[in-house]
Amino acid sequence: MNNSPIGVFDSGMGGLSVASEILKVLPEESVAYFADFAHVPYGERPYSEIRSFALAISEFLVSRGAKAIVMACNVSSAVAMDTVRERFPRIPVIGMIKSGAKAAVAAAAGKPVGVLATTGTIKSKAYDAEIAKLAPEIPVFGVGCPRFVPLVEAGKTHSPEAMEAAREYAEPLTKADCGTIVLGCTHYPFLADAVRAAAPKAKLINPAEEAASYLKQTLERLDLLSAEKTGDKFYASGENKNFLTLGSEFLGEEIHAVKYVTL
Ligand code: DGL
Repeated sequence: MNNSPIGVFDSGMGGLSVASEILKVLPEESVAYFADFAHVPYGERPYSEIRSFALAISEFLVSRGAKAIVMACNVSSAVAMDTVRERFPRIPVIGMIKSGAKAAVAAAAGKPVGVLATTGTIKSKAYDAEIAKLAPEIPVFGVGCPRFVPLVEAGKTHSPEAMEAAREYAEPLTKADCGTIVLGCTHYPFLADAVRAAAPKAKLINPAEEAASYLKQTLERLDLLSAEKTGDKFYASGENKNFLTLGSEFLGEEIHAVKYVTL
């Protein structure tokens, strides 16, 4: 048993969609959540930058006692997973891509899969590669959605702009007959209503559900489950005035305080 926190990070508030799934399946666990508001959005940045952010944040979380790291950020998972695993070979490091691919293949029944994600994730072809490992016959169509993350960070998840952006991004996937759409950025589950309105027939996949269940299995296997919750903690590298209010709504539990950290 180990009551230390699970380190969870993202560029901003998107990773709260993952933290909330983790706390649903592992209610005795505590999370140490890091929002990299100083650098959000990650989606259009060079991979070298995303890797150095992932490394610095993981080092911070491990210095705060994290017993596992969840990269609650698809683009970091796509390009920085190996870097973080090499730095912490004895700590489980869990990303989003394998989980999203597994859930998508299970839902797709051999039909085309669409991926909505940041430009960086789409360009990395990480989802294409993971889906191909599981089901090489499934065609994968990716669409980069640069307008989505700023809308979520601003709390405009149900705004006309969000509806319009969702229509634009989903259209090529509907045309390609994608019956399954992966919400391949942790901010996008908060836009699920907009995406559903734009592609009403598609099944939407939130990789966080599969990732949380994989995390649970991993902690069980390594005998790292917590016996008792010690409390969730929230850290940020910069300011987002919405964090306490909107973040609490996204997480589904009250965020009382955030500690600012310069890395
Ligand atoms: N939420 C992150 C992801 O899952 C990063 C989004 C961004 O900052 O562009 O990819």
